[in-house]
Amino acid sequence: MDRALPPGVLSMHVLPADHHDRDWDAIIVPREVKERLLSQALLVLEHGRKLAMLSGLPHGLIVLAGPPGTGKTTMARGLAQVAALALARKGATMLLEINPHAFPSDMLGESQRNVTRLLTETVPEFAARHPFVVVLIDEVESFAVRRSAASFEANPVDVHRATDAVLLGIDEIAKNLPSVLFVTTTNFIEGVDEAFLSRADLVMRFALPDRETIERILGHGLGELAIQWPALGPMAQDAARISELAARCEGWDGRRIRKLILAALAQRLDVARDPAKLAWDDLFEAARKQGGVEWAGGRAPTSRELFPDVPKELMHDHDHGHDPHHGPHAHGPHRHTHTHQHDDEASPGRGRLAPTFARIPFQARRNRW
Ligand SMILES: Nc1ncnc2c1ncn2[C@@H]1O[C@H](COP(=O)(O)OP(=O)(O)OP(=O)(O)O)[C@@H](O)[C@H]1O
Ligand SMILES: [Mg+2]
Repeated sequence: MDRALPPGVLSMHVLPADHHDRDWDAIIVPREVKERLLSQALLVLEHGRKLAMLSGLPHGLIVLAGPPGTGKTTMARGLAQVAALALARKGATMLLEINPHAFPSDMLGESQRNVTRLLTETVPEFAARHPFVVVLIDEVESFAVRRSAASFEANPVDVHRATDAVLLGIDEIAKNLPSVLFVTTTNFIEGVDEAFLSRADLVMRFALPDRETIERILGHGLGELAIQWPALGPMAQDAARISELAARCEGWDGRRIRKLILAALAQRLDVARDPAKLAWDDLFEAARKQGGVEWAGGRAPTSRELFPDVPKELMHDHDHGHDPHHGPHAHGPHRHTHTHQHDDEASPGRGRLAPTFARIPFQARRNRW
């Protein structure tokens, strides 16, 4: 996907696509929440043209608001896929993910110009070429900045103009391109402009997971582990222990709960090397330490005490950009520069990561690494 993306667009995906299935299923919320969200999306995407005739026309705008780590972004991506599945027989759905930071407010007029270009050129061009378009704007508080709170900004006039441009663009699209749906997320709704919020057809407030939801997130996470390491199957089925563990995670957000499972895998070196050895104690320990680490214990073994038998030919002496004739490790010419992968079990896991990776456009990937 080495294709130049329009300015401000982080990635684009034609949906439905198999590898986008997981997002919707990963987020555990009551059935009514998902149904309301999907109904809202389909109402606009399928019937937007007729609804645009109403005096109170929809703006094709959904705002997902709530604390960090409660599943807003994942749900927004999942929504695009599920809506695309529903609409597949009528045509494909283009999902555009917008980079909210591509609209800097520190250059006079720049921000406004970028927003205007996005909403009056880029999005309409996509809408002309695709039957359905879903535009995902994360951190929408930096895109539609609350004007009443912008008085202390470096350049409040510019912020005002940029937000005005967002409102104008959204209004135009609502009138002329009714099968475009904006799905936006924020964990700081106080920072989002009031007039923008008032245009939303649905503002959905995400809550921290309750006890039962925590149990289900843990069960889901352990179930996913058991797919990779089948020995963990019985663990994923143990409702009583899962419930006991969930009790220790009350008040946590979904992201932290999912990370607890990773933290449990990293309590002991043994388990980190072979996750099939995960035990309940690791999970309870990780929960007790709140996913962190206790600054306690005896002497730590040295690197060679830990790993005494790595063959000499796997050592990359001098493969580090130093002058080979100097320094304490000068043992002769450089020999190997290859990358090793010995853990065969890691391969399917890596394969499963591919969709997430594929979501990052090539240019962004290059910037990351
Ligand atoms: N209700 C939930 N059920 C299952 N998993 C959840 C839930 N909430 C969050 N998660 C998990 O937490 C992680 C973070 O989710 P996501 O990035 O969608 O959160 P967010 O609300 O967009 O957070 P932020 O406001 O920080 O951007 C994901 O791995 C997601 O699967
Ligand atoms: Mg998010």
